Amino acid sequence: MKIGILISGSGSNMIKLIESCQNDKNASINIVISNNPDAKGIDFAKSKNIKTKIINHKEFSQREDFDNQINNILIENKIDFLCNAGFMRIHGEKFVEKWFNKHLNIHPALLPSFKGLNTHERAIKSGVKFAGCTVHLVRSGVDEGPIIGQAVTSVDAHDDKDSLAEKVLKLEHKLYPKCLKLFTEKLVKVKNDKVIFSDKAIKILDDFKV
Ligand code: GRF
Repeated sequence: MKIGILISGSGSNMIKLIESCQNDKNASINIVISNNPDAKGIDFAKSKNIKTKIINHKEFSQREDFDNQINNILIENKIDFLCNAGFMRIHGEKFVEKWFNKHLNIHPALLPSFKGLNTHERAIKSGVKFAGCTVHLVRSGVDEGPIIGQAVTSVDAHDDKDSLAEKVLKLEHKLYPKCLKLFTEKLVKVKNDKVIFSDKAIKILDDFKV
C-alpha cells in the first residue's frame, strides 16, 4: 500500500507513521505534502528520502483548486491511502469523496467531544477528568467520521493546556501507527459507515483498553 501523508506543522505524528512503515512489507510512505512551506516535518521526510511537496493553500483562491492540486499529486504518485497528520486545512466534499474510506485523521480529543481547534484549552475549561485522542476515517464534517481507535489519559488537577497537549501527543504517537496498520494489513472493513474489526484488529487495539 502506497501511503501519502498531509501535514502542516512539526509532523511528529508523521515521523511515527514513517518509522512504523520503515520495515513493513505491506506499506510504504511515498509522499509527504504540506500546505505550509515552513512545516518542520518536511525536513524529516526529506532526510528519509521520502518525496515531499509544498502545496501552499494561500496560492489558491478556491478551496476546490487547492484540493484538486493535492489530489493530482496523490494520483501521479499512485497513492492508495492517505493520512492527515496535523494537517490544518479542511477538505472540500469532492476531495473527501475521492478518498472515502482510504483516508485517516488524528484529532487530539476524545471525539465526538471537542471537535475543531483549541481542544486542550476547552477540555481543561470544561473540567473533564479524561482526555485523549481519536483516529477516525475522514468525512466532510470537521473531525467527523467512523472512529478507528481512541486512547485515553486522565486530566489531573495540576494540568494546563500545555501539559495536557504533551500527554495526549504521546498517546497520538502510539495510537496512529497502530490504526494505520489495521488498514495496511486489511484487518478492518467499513460497511454502511460502520467499522468492522477483525479479531486481530481488536487485539492490536487492546493496548489502549482502560
Ligand atoms: C497534534 O496534536 C495533532 O493531532 C494536531 O496537531 C498536533 C501536532 O501534530 N492536529 P504534529 O506534531 O504535527 O503531528
